[in-house]
Amino acid sequence: MSLLKIIEAPDPRLRVISSPVDGVDDELRSLMDQMLETMYAAPGIGLSAIQVNIPKRVIVLDIAGSEEDPDPRYFVNPEIVWQSDEMENYKEGCLSLPEYYAEVERPGACHIRHLDYDGKEHLLKAEGLLATCIQHEIDHLEGILFVDYLSVLRRNMILRKLAKGDYGINSVSITFPEGVTITEIGEILKLKFLDFDEATFLRLAKGKEGFLFPDTYNFLPNIGPRQVIFEMEENFDQKLEPLMLEIEESGHSLEEIIIMASLLEEEARTRQTRKMIAGILWNRIELGMLLQVDAVFPYIIGKNTFQLTLEDLQFDSLYNTYKYPGLPPGAISNPGLQSIESALQPTESDYLFYLSDRDGNTHYAVNFEGHKRNKRIYLR
Ligand code: NI
Repeated sequence: MSLLKIIEAPDPRLRVISSPVDGVDDELRSLMDQMLETMYAAPGIGLSAIQVNIPKRVIVLDIAGSEEDPDPRYFVNPEIVWQSDEMENYKEGCLSLPEYYAEVERPGACHIRHLDYDGKEHLLKAEGLLATCIQHEIDHLEGILFVDYLSVLRRNMILRKLAKGDYGINSVSITFPEGVTITEIGEILKLKFLDFDEATFLRLAKGKEGFLFPDTYNFLPNIGPRQVIFEMEENFDQKLEPLMLEIEESGHSLEEIIIMASLLEEEARTRQTRKMIAGILWNRIELGMLLQVDAVFPYIIGKNTFQLTLEDLQFDSLYNTYKYPGLPPGAISNPGLQSIESALQPTESDYLFYLSDRDGNTHYAVNFEGHKRNKRIYLR
């Protein structure tokens, strides 16, 4: 027996509504046999005829586990006659959406009237996995896919990824360097994709500074602002996941760690120096001292350390760490993993001051006298 070809989303044929069958004859039984073989070979636990491009109301199912004996079930002209009010969540997949799985909420139990392999009428009372599976397959007969239950964003992302393989739309690789700001992310995207809606991106990304993970992404040229944010946030969650326990135990909130990391990202380049400076800045916070971090100025007034005037240091912004004690109210960029880890694993020391010379070396001091001495020696 030859296997049938399973069509995959976003093939529009999956959106066709299937027609009822007149009755069960040998030809239809042969189709059901072939569908079952195809389903077992895939392997899958359910298949509707439309998935092999036959728009008839026919479904095969087998939810027996791999250790159990096969338990094939056949449904011709199935009809849901009752559904429970109680809902249940199952992680669903589909042979027409290979490699994608997502939680879908459906009625936990249902009754299905249908004809069987011999054409006899039955009423199936299903619950649990069987109920989920039969409702998923009946959806196929209506042109509905399980991703239709997800957010528009998530659905489009999945369908677009699948489309890429079928229709050859090429994605573009874009790198956002560590320490990139939301404004810069918008500029980079606008440079790569002329139609990119930068203004909407900036509006939607407001308040997310620090939480859009800097990395290399593959985006389709028609990507929208929402999807960029979604993918960068999702990557952030994935990258931070292994650190979450450590963050919980650090005595700092995730937000504080990210804000600190964004300062470290700009203040130093190496892991060792970042960890030293992290220790110093946490010390200062504990003592109620001003942080006096210059790195906030490019963010609030666009000037770097060597351009700052005394007046600039008094610029009124909650981000001005010369004026307001503690961490600024938000991150000043989107830090990389090394800075995040440095914020989390500070080097303990008695130092309260540091400065970078023009060669990029950092010099530490325990008090203001020592700091002034370092300034005289290294910043002349
Ligand atoms: Ni399916």
